[in-house]
Amino acid sequence: DVMKEVFDTRAMEEDLQKKLGIPEVHIVPGNSDEYSWVQQEMGRACVSLIKRKMISKENILAVTGGTSIAAVAEMLVPDSDLKEALFVPARGGLGEQVENQANTICATMARKAMGSYRLLHVPDQLSKEAYESLINEDSVQQILKLIKSATIVIHGIGEAQTMAERRNSSDEVLRNLKDTKAVAEAFGYYFNESGDIVHKVLTIGLQLEDLKNIPHVISVAGGASKAQSIQAYMKQCPSEVLVTDEGAAKEILK
Ligand code: F6P
Repeated sequence: DVMKEVFDTRAMEEDLQKKLGIPEVHIVPGNSDEYSWVQQEMGRACVSLIKRKMISKENILAVTGGTSIAAVAEMLVPDSDLKEALFVPARGGLGEQVENQANTICATMARKAMGSYRLLHVPDQLSKEAYESLINEDSVQQILKLIKSATIVIHGIGEAQTMAERRNSSDEVLRNLKDTKAVAEAFGYYFNESGDIVHKVLTIGLQLEDLKNIPHVISVAGGASKAQSIQAYMKQCPSEVLVTDEGAAKEILK
C-alpha cells in the first residue's frame, strides 16, 4: 500500500539522518547495485533538490565525476533558474573515463539545463612540479576562483579499492590503500573507516576544507556495496544532503 511505503521511507530517512548526523536524507526505492534505473531515480531526486537549493539568481554549481553524478546530468531539464546557472567541475582530472569525468558531466549539465559552463583543463596524476606551475596560470586561477565560490556542490562517494582500480592507480597506491585500510573515496581523497584521510590524489580544484564555505553540499551515492563508504565519509565531512537508495540505507541501518 502506497501510504505505508511513503511512511516507511520517511521513517528510514529520519533514522539515517540520525545515524549519519546529517540534516537531510532522501532515499529512493531499490538497490542501484542491482538495477541501473535506481541510479536514474537518485538522479531525478537530486535534480529536484538542486532546484530547491537555488536561492539567488547567481548560482555556481560545482560537480564531480562518476556514474551517479552523470545520472544527475541526464535528468536535468531547462528551467528559468538553471538557465542562469554556471556549471564548473569541482576538481581536475582524477583518472576517470571521459563520460564519467567532471568536465564532461559539467558540460552535459549545462547543455541539458541550457546554462553555461567553464571547464578545468588539468591532466590526471600531476607531478608536484607540474602542479606548482599549473596552479599559477592565470586561466587556472580564474576558474579556481569560480569553483571556490560555488553555491552548490554535487558529488559522488565511492568505495576506495573500486575507485583506485577504476583509475588505474599504481601498485604502490593500491598497496598503500590496503595498508591504511581505506574504505571510501570522494573528491580525490581516500578515507579509512573512521573518516580520516589516508591518501589524496594531487589535482587542482576544490579541497575538502573548502566545503565548509559552500552553502549547499549534496552527496549522491547508493547501492548496498557503498554502505561502509558512505558511513566513513560522513564521519568527518558530513554533507548537508545525502541522496541514496534503499539498498545502501538498509545496509547502513542494519
Ligand atoms: O571520480 C569521481 C568520483 O566522484 C569519485 O570521487 C567517487 O568516488 C566516484 O566518482 C563515484 O563514482 P560512482 O558514482 O560511479 O560510483
